[in-house]
Amino acid sequence: MQIPTLEITGKKATLLSDGKPFLMLAGEAHNSSGSSLTYMKESVWPYLRPLNLNTLVVTVTWELLEPVPGEFDFSLPDGLIQQAEEEGVKLVFLWFGLWKNGMSTYVPDWVKQDRGTYFFMRDRWGKPVNAVSPLCQAGVERDAAAFTALMSHLKEFDVNRTVLMVQVENEMGLLGDCRDFSPAAEKAYAEAVPTDAADFCGVNGTWDEAFGEEAPELFMTYHYAKATQQIAAAGKAVYPIPLYVNAWLEQHPWTPGTYPAGGPIARHMDWWKQFAPAVDFQSPDIYLPDFEAVCREYTAMGNPLFIPEARPSQDSASNVFSAVGKFGALGFSPFAIETVGKEGPSPDKSLLGGLNIMAEAFNHYRSGEYLGLSYRLLGGMTELLCKYRCTSHMMGFTRGIDEVGGLVKFSKYDFRIDYMPNSVESPKGGGLIIELSDDEFLFCGLNYHVTPLSKNNDPSHVEYVSITEGRYENNVWIPERQLNGDEFRIMFREKPSVLRCRFLRCR
Ligand code: DGJ
Repeated sequence: MQIPTLEITGKKATLLSDGKPFLMLAGEAHNSSGSSLTYMKESVWPYLRPLNLNTLVVTVTWELLEPVPGEFDFSLPDGLIQQAEEEGVKLVFLWFGLWKNGMSTYVPDWVKQDRGTYFFMRDRWGKPVNAVSPLCQAGVERDAAAFTALMSHLKEFDVNRTVLMVQVENEMGLLGDCRDFSPAAEKAYAEAVPTDAADFCGVNGTWDEAFGEEAPELFMTYHYAKATQQIAAAGKAVYPIPLYVNAWLEQHPWTPGTYPAGGPIARHMDWWKQFAPAVDFQSPDIYLPDFEAVCREYTAMGNPLFIPEARPSQDSASNVFSAVGKFGALGFSPFAIETVGKEGPSPDKSLLGGLNIMAEAFNHYRSGEYLGLSYRLLGGMTELLCKYRCTSHMMGFTRGIDEVGGLVKFSKYDFRIDYMPNSVESPKGGGLIIELSDDEFLFCGLNYHVTPLSKNNDPSHVEYVSITEGRYENNVWIPERQLNGDEFRIMFREKPSVLRCRFLRCR
């Protein structure tokens, strides 16, 4: 088996699993699920089966991997790999090391208890913040050593290459202030901007002199990226599978520290690429309602798109079409996936409030049912999706805020998209279109209808030749109803489905 790699050709990145393109139709488990194999067996895997995932995103934590300094316990990652293989599912591991949502709650007890060696950040009033400082070299080195131990173990143990990628840390950055005010940080902040950062930005002087109001956040970005580079590069040196970092997005109320200051937000992607080159890409955790706006930001600079956390509401069943069809995503992964599968209760409001996530994002009502159908549809035709992703022959869409429709353009036809009215009973409209040849198209998705149009510079009018409803199974097209008469139109209701249509341009 070949190890997973990221193949980059021009602006297109493709995840290769055993040398073949792989599209991750994924979900991310709750933070604590991966800490018990029994819990996984009883309370996670059974609820994932109806969702038709091909990849599970799940945690491996430093506290459980290295409970005693230098002694590693790999039983959890090994067990997760074995369970995933029994389920026929691939894995993405989340390395919860020094930082998780801006805090250091997943470091081993021996790190938590030795604040002399592993110093924590402080806010501007001198109050300790519950997170090891990225300037704490001792902490970064110990994390890098543990991460390297994990990666080296995976290289030996994961012979079937079930683990496709690893996320380094989780939603890094400082919460509670715009920068670290620990004594080490104070000293570094007062000094000149380090040469590599000064050269990169063409500046000189201290951070304040060089960057003014932006200085505190850029200072944190630099130090988080450098620390992450040290950790990621060490792991990659022993086992070079794709690595990425994820971001808690910049959002209301917009001041650094209300979102984690220094994390891989879109605005600072260039810093992350420059100072953490061992990280293959930056990922957004998308709980905000404007899904496509975030995808657009995170595909800038040729950044490959993987969404490790998407809102677990019904929106996911439509947003996945846009992620794959419009933004060429490597994969898509709603968070809290086992709760989606069992339509369990949403987390309490105080937790979501603290994470600045709006409650509607976690409305699980019928979300598993629809996500399972979207994933079944897309999972049946992954070869086609991999063939056309990132080309002008495929386009995806999902209903945006206040949007009623759109126009999708191909070489010989344009398609007017009209979304069905929103309802609480089924997801908003979303789908994708593939141009199979000049006059033959595949349409799929839910809650929209299509009007084919001739191009502006083409005087012909468009006629339907045929509309065939069907499905893909194991990448083979299985035609079902031939639509004609009253059904002779391209219309998708609440059940995600596929139509193949042929058109004619007549004069
Ligand atoms: C984003 C984090 O990355 C996840 O681990 C989790 O805490 C969710 N927020 C909300 O539950």
